[in-house]
Amino acid sequence: SMSPRAGPGPVHSDTYNLGTRHMSESISVLFVCLGNICRSPMAEGVFRQLVEEEGLDGLIRIDSAGTGDWHVGEAPDPRASGVARKNGVELRSIARTIEVEDLDHFDYVLAMDLENLHDIQALQRAHGGDASIHLFRDFDPDAEGEQEVPDPYFGGPGGFDRVYEMIHRTSGNLLDHLRSEADAK
Ligand code: 4NP
Repeated sequence: SMSPRAGPGPVHSDTYNLGTRHMSESISVLFVCLGNICRSPMAEGVFRQLVEEEGLDGLIRIDSAGTGDWHVGEAPDPRASGVARKNGVELRSIARTIEVEDLDHFDYVLAMDLENLHDIQALQRAHGGDASIHLFRDFDPDAEGEQEVPDPYFGGPGGFDRVYEMIHRTSGNLLDHLRSEADAK
């Protein structure tokens, strides 16, 4: 587990004041896609930047993983890094697979598409773990009925821009949701 680091504002023991909000526990979030070189690294990078901008780094642990092992050890796809950089976000993840332990060590596991969701749920059924597993786009305020972040790997570069947009607005809403959930505790 991480050691909490204070963001801006007063700190009282292990309780942190977040503007008008209040969070006394750290939260951990794992983003999961298939290859861990496109969608989940973008989500990890964008969400981390939002968290840092809000002064919440040290309170929210963030990582990403893939259900497939083809790209383990690799940096993100240059198309993903490119669209992120164009939007001021550096991607620094190294691809890894999701492991049984992740379902014990993360509070939230967010799947990019339905296949990812079902694979993670199967892992949890087989091995347990208390992680709360959701589709990432369950937090998209503009989903319009869509459930998945489409896999941009085999598509053109336009797909990466669209996916970035989707991930950016969803990450903002996800952070709001986690804060309000922490407030309610
Ligand atoms: P990702 O995209 O799941 O968003 O990282 C993919 C990357 C690689 C492959 C598929 C999807 N692949 O088949 O190698």
